[in-house]
Amino acid sequence: MSHMPQPIPLFKVFLPPEEALLPRLRDVLYGGQISEGQPVYDFERRFGDFVELPHVLSFYSGTAALHTALILAGVKPGDEVISTAMTAEPTNMAIRHARARVVWADVDPRSGNLAPAAISARLTERTKAIVVVHYGGIPAPMRAIREIARVRGIPVIEDAAHALGARYEGRPIGDESEYTMFSLQAIKHMTTVDGGMLACRNPDDLPRGRKVRWFGIDRQTPRTEVDVDVVGYKYHMNNVNATIGLVQLDFIGSVIARHVANGRYFDGQLRGISGLELCMGDEAAEPSYWFYTVLADRRDDLSRYLTEHGIGNSLAHRRNDLHSVFADSRCELPGLDAFYSRMLHIPCGWWVSDDDREFIVDRLRDGW
Ligand SMILES: Cc1ncc(COP(=O)(O)O)c(C=O)c1O
Repeated sequence: MSHMPQPIPLFKVFLPPEEALLPRLRDVLYGGQISEGQPVYDFERRFGDFVELPHVLSFYSGTAALHTALILAGVKPGDEVISTAMTAEPTNMAIRHARARVVWADVDPRSGNLAPAAISARLTERTKAIVVVHYGGIPAPMRAIREIARVRGIPVIEDAAHALGARYEGRPIGDESEYTMFSLQAIKHMTTVDGGMLACRNPDDLPRGRKVRWFGIDRQTPRTEVDVDVVGYKYHMNNVNATIGLVQLDFIGSVIARHVANGRYFDGQLRGISGLELCMGDEAAEPSYWFYTVLADRRDDLSRYLTEHGIGNSLAHRRNDLHSVFADSRCELPGLDAFYSRMLHIPCGWWVSDDDREFIVDRLRDGW
């Protein structure tokens, strides 16, 4: 039996209805100001309200936001940054942009998220930051990770690219860390076509962050009088992307709510299936379920079976330690070996209807 009438994709772009978006886009496109201006600042404020983190800077990508976070955290060439290999490449490429050394810590084989004890084991004198990914939208064990960082006085940079709307200990994701990045790339919970947001715990980071994102220039000072005293990049967001973001914010609450409803449905319905385990965070984690990850015996057979039934599925990411560019960081990662050999992502986003999710559960119960 195959899924009728349409296959269920693993990812799908959400954009607001045309009647909400196009008039606003037309106004900004032909309004004479398309680079960084008021819509960008309005978007930063409203996004900050949405994620309940007050000090937010916008960027043209999440990768640019991560690179800037590393600079603001004081990471210098040759420093060590602890990170996870179970992520998309940009997490770790940003560390290389800062010309720092990527040090892998192992993951918990039940969630794919960094294991606190593994972070402790990789700390050295040269560790200058810890980058934590909430893989697939499941919050990492932040209580323990923050404690490790606090004791050593090391900043934590949360890569919340998959975790917009997730919560931890009843608080919004990123609540306590020095820096938290959200990606607004095409297939994330929320997109501005491309974009990234950086929440900074310390408001003093904002002026420096604004300089780093725009050639080192302080935009408050007249251009011919300004002195550029730091290396800056062309990382700013423009008014067009920001306008898409402003309109998205009117819809995104219900989009994320549907990811969460589907994820919780799977949490309830997929228990006890032979050969299938569910991915779980700790008891304080409230995931926002960007995709839904299962751990399966005979994973490749399951993948083929789901594809035959029109159910999108994929590994989505190659463990980053396998890439040549990170060869000098290689080390034993048994937790990741266990997770990576069994993980498979299935759809649970806003486009997965009640019928779709029942169909997915039924096929998994049938066995593969
Ligand atoms: C975990 C993770 N971190 C960082 C990024 C980078 O975000 P962007 O594509 O907005 O640069 C992505 C996605 O692309 C991601 O999945």
